[in-house]
Amino acid sequence: MNTIALSAERLLARLHHLGAIGRTGDGRLSRLAADDADKAGRDCLVGWLHEAGLEVAIDRVGNIFGIWRPVGVESEEALLLGSHIDTVIDAGIYDGCYGVLSGLEVIETLKASGLCPLRPIAVAAFTNEEGVRYAPDMMGSLVHAGGLGVEQALAAIGTDGTRLGDELRRIGYAGAQEPGFLKPHAYLELHIEQGPVLEREGLSIGAVATLQGISWQRVTIEGVANHAGTTPMAMRRDAGHAAARVITFLRESALAANMPAVATVGSLQLEPNAINVIPARAVFTVDLRDPDELHLREAETALAAFLETLAQSEGVTISVERLARFEPVMFDAALVGTIERAAAARGYACRRMSSGAGHDAQMMARITPSAMIFVPSIAGISHNPREFTPEVDLIAGACVLLDVVRDLVLPT
Ligand code: GLV
Ligand code: MN
Ligand code: MN
Repeated sequence: MNTIALSAERLLARLHHLGAIGRTGDGRLSRLAADDADKAGRDCLVGWLHEAGLEVAIDRVGNIFGIWRPVGVESEEALLLGSHIDTVIDAGIYDGCYGVLSGLEVIETLKASGLCPLRPIAVAAFTNEEGVRYAPDMMGSLVHAGGLGVEQALAAIGTDGTRLGDELRRIGYAGAQEPGFLKPHAYLELHIEQGPVLEREGLSIGAVATLQGISWQRVTIEGVANHAGTTPMAMRRDAGHAAARVITFLRESALAANMPAVATVGSLQLEPNAINVIPARAVFTVDLRDPDELHLREAETALAAFLETLAQSEGVTISVERLARFEPVMFDAALVGTIERAAAARGYACRRMSSGAGHDAQMMARITPSAMIFVPSIAGISHNPREFTPEVDLIAGACVLLDVVRDLVLPT
């Protein structure tokens, strides 16, 4: 394969530029789906897509596409690259943005090379991958893949009481295209690992073959508010204490199940949330993950049984709402092999691996051959401002993406 060089400088500059958008007064980065900061990030990305001479299309759920349709190419199905640019609260700059900007970089590089691909190539920034403000996560790609109706997605109510459809209209990203309008020939997503494996093993590239199942639930426990000083311990119906017991149960169950099952309570609110009042209500989220669907179901069943017993023993009422549920995914074996060969040809040490995090590729795999490329995350830290990947690895990942794209769309 003759060498075509992407611009490492441009890619890194854009990554840092986007990473500066959506910082709060204290410097924390938060671009939650369809909020003002997300709008500013989207506007910036769309500007770059236009500068690159791509056709820009926005669908009704706010997914952004930059499409290169080379003159004379008749195929409608595009090789789709992508990820997301929404973030968690107090995020790092790499999660999602790296994949979107690398996709753009690859397309710009090929466009400038004078080579003509056999089919269109497009980059997507999917709406609400993180699912922090609206559930479920991976929402834009799920809608694109036909797994969730667009009206249902737009009706999602956020943690702040807003409606996604209203917010997308407010920020100018309720597009005109019907979701799914762009038919993918295949989907590739480059992403930071967000875990410790590649760094620990001294590898530059992960060829992601599988992605674990995800179960999200919201649990509401209703107890009785009462005086913290006068209510004997035996007479309490303490929603806060019941929530604490669930948190402990989940941790102990996941530990007993042994790796790789994981369980997290990442959000918890108590009411009335006062120092001298026994909590009347606890609302918290449960995030369960496991690469084995059967084990994930067992974890869900065990939680349901625990909540039933807990309601009786603590004298509280418990209700559960399902927020998201995705089965484990196997990526396309041929694409995974292509990634491994591309890494080897560049001399990058690579291994097959599984993804612990959820990704848009998980949704796209429902409708098209899909796979992911991982690069190391230092100390395995992500969803944290300390998230970091060395430049040399960022460039290695983008080069592998470029080579895989060339392999898939250039005539041999
Ligand atoms: C997305 O980042 C997830 O795995 O929660
Ligand atoms: Mn991500
Ligand atoms: Mn994330």
